[in-house]
Amino acid sequence: MSTSLEITFARLDAAPSATLAAFVGQDLVLSPAVQALNTRSQGQLLKAAEAAEFKGKAKTSIEILAPQKLDIQRLVLIGAGKSASLEESDWAALGGYALGQITARKSAEASVLAEVGAAGDTKPDVIAANLAFGALLRHYSFKKYLTKKGNEEGSGNGAEPKPAQDGITKLTIHCPDPDKARAAFTHKQAVAEGVIFARDLVNEPANVLGPVEFADRVKELERIGLEVEILDEEQLTELKMNTLLSVAQGSVRPARVAIMQWNGAKSKRAKPLAFVGKGVVFDTGGLSMKPAAGMEDMKGDMGGAAAVVGLMYALAERKAPVNAVGAIGIVENMPSGSAIRPGDIVVSMSGQTVENLNTDAEGRLVLADVLWYVQERFKPRFVIDLATLTGAIMVALGKDFAGLFANDDKLADQLLAASKVTNEKLWRMPLDKSYDKLMDSKNADVKNIGGRWGGACTAAAFLNRFIKKDVPWAHLDIAGTAMDATKSEINTSWGSGWGVQLLDRFVADNFERSDK
Ligand code: BES
Ligand code: MN
Ligand code: ZN
Repeated sequence: MSTSLEITFARLDAAPSATLAAFVGQDLVLSPAVQALNTRSQGQLLKAAEAAEFKGKAKTSIEILAPQKLDIQRLVLIGAGKSASLEESDWAALGGYALGQITARKSAEASVLAEVGAAGDTKPDVIAANLAFGALLRHYSFKKYLTKKGNEEGSGNGAEPKPAQDGITKLTIHCPDPDKARAAFTHKQAVAEGVIFARDLVNEPANVLGPVEFADRVKELERIGLEVEILDEEQLTELKMNTLLSVAQGSVRPARVAIMQWNGAKSKRAKPLAFVGKGVVFDTGGLSMKPAAGMEDMKGDMGGAAAVVGLMYALAERKAPVNAVGAIGIVENMPSGSAIRPGDIVVSMSGQTVENLNTDAEGRLVLADVLWYVQERFKPRFVIDLATLTGAIMVALGKDFAGLFANDDKLADQLLAASKVTNEKLWRMPLDKSYDKLMDSKNADVKNIGGRWGGACTAAAFLNRFIKKDVPWAHLDIAGTAMDATKSEINTSWGSGWGVQLLDRFVADNFERSDK
């Protein structure tokens, strides 16, 4: 949660704010608008560039204070690099970089000239919309609980925490066709809001965001047109979601399942797309407890659920012409006198019995029941689940790629294609009988751990046992990307909101055109 940034679009020749940022391509390629600024300032721009040895390389910038004849206080020239090869996500990154430069200068208002020489194939309105999108995402910071530092207006007196003041509140994007840019931005803004909603959920500490509070926040999304049902423990018991409930039984805070529906397709009866998320609000490991070091990070173990909520937010906000359902299992994994023990056997909603051999392999137990429920009730076209499921996926892929497991090549390829566009990196991992075998249990139909090796793959093999025959399914293991994320030009937050952009793009590109 941060102070909001109002973004408006204006013509290239409209008077800019006192702080103006503009782009320069590699080897000082100037756009007509920047060329005009240079001429008006009697060549000062190029002189300053030469003095600073600024060549327009990506991620470099110079500042020209009080440029002559321009009637602004400062001009920040930002290198756009090889502008002809810039794609949408590069423009978003440039927008983020520009906002970072502006924020460092503490102006409350600023303008960005959205024009480069040699822009390649990307349309001007798409450039402007993506610059704005990147700026919005970069602007986000989670400062709700900082009552002093960087927040002169904060309460600091034990009253309700207030968000810190960030500086910039208004950004104007100057572009060739403001109306078109505004239209292109409508979609991107909905996605950015979805990402930010997800980031807030991930960043929130677990004392504030328990399962009930999480469910309450989802319920509030009825205000943007989502249909939301919250299932309580009584209903979950009735539905026999016993593996999910077995994870929650050690916590004093009761489990919830939230079902979100967005029915925007022409035919309200068209089979929905289904998204499922792991929402462990805190994962201590249960009786198989985690070590103390770094355990605080487990407040982010609901990153999969947050991404599903963020996606549903975006679809509703931009009124996407699709039918989609999002379902998340929300629990807390705690050790206590009522906690599940290693060796306990539980009957899942699917009827399969599950032997719990490590209570820290809890996410898959939550997903097993929610995946089954969604397939039974909605008969979806496919199911995609997102989960901070295993440390092993980070051992395999590091912090910048999520693991993709899929039983359907077409679905996998569609996800990989969307991932290329949004630059949320995905790497396909194996689903294979050899992993499935490792999940056989001596005492039950399946066990919840698979042994020492290939932990991300055995986790996926476990989930696969709860996918019905002929249902296309993909599982994204986002343990490395959802939290404690690598900082980027469009994200400086611990909770990244990873996956919202990717899934929105995947939906928009494959299921919204009339021929699909
Ligand atoms: N939530 C964790 C996975 C995780 C670890 C996410 C670190 C983000 C950062 C998950 O519930 C878990 O504990 N997995 C175990 C599985 C094991 C017990 C088979 C793991 O990865 O160690
Ligand atoms: Mn765990
Ligand atoms: Zn977990």
